[in-house]
Amino acid sequence: MKKLFALLIAALLWATAPAHTFAQDKDALTASIEQYYSSLPQAKRDYKSRLRPILIQGAMNIETDALVRSLKKPVVYRYDNYLFVAGTYRNYPIVISRTEQGLANTAASTILAIEKFNPIAVINQGTAGGSDPAVHVGDIVIGEKSIPSSAFYTNQSPAGAGVDYTDQEMRGVYAYDRVDETFKRRGEFFADRTLLELAKRVAASEKEFTVATGTIASADWWMSWVDYINFLRERYGITASEMETVSAAQICHNANIPFIGIRVISDNDINDEDYRFDVSDRSQKFALLLAERYIIDVLRK
Ligand code: 5AD
Repeated sequence: MKKLFALLIAALLWATAPAHTFAQDKDALTASIEQYYSSLPQAKRDYKSRLRPILIQGAMNIETDALVRSLKKPVVYRYDNYLFVAGTYRNYPIVISRTEQGLANTAASTILAIEKFNPIAVINQGTAGGSDPAVHVGDIVIGEKSIPSSAFYTNQSPAGAGVDYTDQEMRGVYAYDRVDETFKRRGEFFADRTLLELAKRVAASEKEFTVATGTIASADWWMSWVDYINFLRERYGITASEMETVSAAQICHNANIPFIGIRVISDNDINDEDYRFDVSDRSQKFALLLAERYIIDVLRK
């Protein structure tokens, strides 16, 4: 009888307990990763390396954690509150950068990384929403190009006329043009050809990944209007949407540094696939395999 009573109480407690949400899990994880970074050696002076490191970026702790943990001799650098962890992988210097979310943070931390670490190549990776029904949560998207998906012109329309969201043209962002030696509007940024080829080779040899190659769209928004996502795909051919890639691509283009964006699909509203932050390990793993190939096939040749 006592046992039954205890069981009943337990069942009641379980039923009335607040749901264990994703957000709570993610926050707890983020806090524990933060603690881990604080436990690592903290740099006392600026970075010095005979070889130029590869820079691998991710916006959040959940997008950088696995990368940092794979480094040998990690040292933490903090510049203007942006975090960088430098170490080695396969005996080659690598810097992992937590850019924070969004275009402005990514641009700021990319230029800081260029100034402080002088990277030989930049891989921006992390999670993204699927913008094509063909890509699913957990799939990898290799960004053969990225576009600033909120940088458009709209035609004039009078007050009260409503808004036709298709009445837009790509305006682009100002990026340095080496021929004209000035900043000019640019609506797309292409991945470095060598990095793109190597990423495709990783995709071909590592069967655990389902991989698509396509266009990554970046804007400071979480777009869940399926009609609008479909419109952007039809107009600009996008495969994935997120908030960082084009910004890092733009800064690397300006500085003439080889760049590629790699994303894992974490959600896809077109297919009613809900957000899963735990897939972020996959883009980190893919990016590291790509870095490894770059070290072996390009940097050590
Ligand atoms: N829309 C926008 N950003 C997304 N991200 C993952 N999925 C999406 C999506 N559907 C990424 C962004 C940002 C964070 C919110 O997660 O790049 O860093």
